[in-house]
Amino acid sequence: MILQILLIVNTIVGAYFRYNRAGRLMHKIPGPPRVPLFGHIKVQKPHWVQNPTKYHLISINSYIQSIHKIGECVVKRLIKPWFLVDFIYGLSFTARQERAVLPDLHNFTKNIIERRRRKRNRNTATGIQENNVNEVKATMLDILLDEEAKGTINDKGIREEVDTFLFEGHDTTATALTFMMMRIANEPDIQDSICEELQDIFGDSQRSPTIEDLSKMKYLECCIKESLRLYPSVPFLSRYLRKEVVIAGYTIPKNTYVDLHVFDIHRDPEVYPEPEKFRPERFLPQNTAGRNPYSYIPFSAGPRNCIGQKFATMMIKTLMSGILRKYRLEPIIRPEDLVFIADLVLRTNHPIDVRFRPREHLTSN
Ligand code: HEM
Repeated sequence: MILQILLIVNTIVGAYFRYNRAGRLMHKIPGPPRVPLFGHIKVQKPHWVQNPTKYHLISINSYIQSIHKIGECVVKRLIKPWFLVDFIYGLSFTARQERAVLPDLHNFTKNIIERRRRKRNRNTATGIQENNVNEVKATMLDILLDEEAKGTINDKGIREEVDTFLFEGHDTTATALTFMMMRIANEPDIQDSICEELQDIFGDSQRSPTIEDLSKMKYLECCIKESLRLYPSVPFLSRYLRKEVVIAGYTIPKNTYVDLHVFDIHRDPEVYPEPEKFRPERFLPQNTAGRNPYSYIPFSAGPRNCIGQKFATMMIKTLMSGILRKYRLEPIIRPEDLVFIADLVLRTNHPIDVRFRPREHLTSN
């Protein structure tokens, strides 16, 4: 039985990596150096947090590096079917690497939870209500800690939820921003159209956007969608089939892992003619009517889709509108120069650089 599953998985994963367009690229490409725009977007300065168990310090940067290492381990495990056998995987160098970085990841999350727990205890002792105007609003972590007090979730459960939020929330959004800035820098006319829209909303003001401003950024929203089409932060999704499924006449047996290649789905020329071209108007309401909703899935679909998608879009609008009001983005890397590598989040094997030219210099020249 195990052999059968391995063969099926091997065939699917192997075929996927050998014949799939992006897979071919991924297959060729060596491992990832990563200090490009990514680093700058994620953290402005190293922020240190205390490790509650070992009493040493873990930086956000080292947390990010550990996340990247885990990503590499997961991908290696995915493409080597024999690694699906726990025993064999456990003996491998990749598993040793995984075991080495896991404590850092767990301690980082534990520290966030512990600090919140301590703060809540302090507030309870001093009678401070969290929802007071001067206090931070109740967060998802508070809800989880409330549930813990009721006994409906334990410490490990909370940690898993926080891990998911940290992982799904930061890297995906930073990646989306990175690719979007690179592409907008390469599309001067589109950049000008975004700036016109921003001028209509803000005039010459550099104020922060309100929720209403964000909802007026219709063209920018189309650009975000088009950017996520070409550069989906999560380039593939995996599902484990508990039941047999028939797709287009092919039977996929139960107990199989299936990978859906979002990167290629988004480049189907029948749905997106000239798929490599950056055309935000593809997402105007009149052009999306009648399109299969599963032909565009940067936030996945179904019951496990991204719960942060609206928040992520608002974040990207806020950041892009702030950046583009101050700077003109100019290209250094061209879209055709991108070389993607296999990872859980879309990455390249080289830095993605963009030139930021202050707009006041443009007008004074
Ligand atoms: C551009 C930014 C983002 C992209 C492209 C993205 C994409 C995704 C995708 C594709 C999934 C589903 C993974 C799967 O089906 O296996 C997912 C799940 C998830 N995302 Fe996002 N995400 C983004 C931002 C965020 C943000 C900002 C948050 C939190 C504030 C977030 C929270 C989550 C959570 C909690 C899940 C797991 C949902 C579940 O398993 O039920 N995401 N995201």
